[in-house]
Amino acid sequence: MSKQTLDMILKSQGFGTRKHCRQLVEQGEVSVAGEVIANPRAAFETAGLAFELFGEPWDYREQVYVVLNKPANFECSRKPSHHPGVLSLLPEQFAWRDVQPVGRLDHDTTGMLLMSDDGPFIHAQSSPKKHIPKVYVATTHDPVTPELVECLLAGVKLHDEPAPLAALSCRRVDDCHLEIVLEQGKYHQVKRMLAAAGNHCTALCRTAIGGLMLEALGLAEGEWCYLDEAQRALLVPGA
Ligand code: URA
Repeated sequence: MSKQTLDMILKSQGFGTRKHCRQLVEQGEVSVAGEVIANPRAAFETAGLAFELFGEPWDYREQVYVVLNKPANFECSRKPSHHPGVLSLLPEQFAWRDVQPVGRLDHDTTGMLLMSDDGPFIHAQSSPKKHIPKVYVATTHDPVTPELVECLLAGVKLHDEPAPLAALSCRRVDDCHLEIVLEQGKYHQVKRMLAAAGNHCTALCRTAIGGLMLEALGLAEGEWCYLDEAQRALLVPGA
């Protein structure tokens, strides 16, 4: 249990500097349990706290865990150069609280992207030691053959990689779609593996991480949702 003053609560949630948050409260823009609170030093228990800012409801969150259904033509980089950044698809206070993508998807890759401001969570999700499977559906230029699937399962040698990289599992979906599951997250890994196996990836979508499936979240492209504890537990199979 921890009590904090309202200005510090707003600051922790990404609504700006302490001074700005103090002003928001003093201007009567914040209410708790239906009552306008104009004293920035009023203290509240943060666990389970719900408040309204400019009439919009917010729940206090110590950390933010989000899944975005990433559209094409958005960059995961913090300093995007050629396309808008994925953070522009989320409420602006997320950037204030340093929410960042967990790993990277290429600008033209779509699908499941985790985002959080919880450093240890980001680290654990990105760590190869956790062996978290990531599922991709690749659209291929040439037809998906049994030989292609076998080759990806057996492992392909990529430039700059000391050992061949193999898919954890791989299956033909239809003539030009392949589902491939990887444990690692090397640079352009799916595209490079497909190229090394003699085909070409023309589109790529990440459909699941661990046991959490994008489809189950019902998000259209560009939409996002918070992840609850049960959904987060699915991200690390067997955890
Ligand atoms: N592999 C790729 O080639 N690109 C991605 O965005 C993710 C995995």
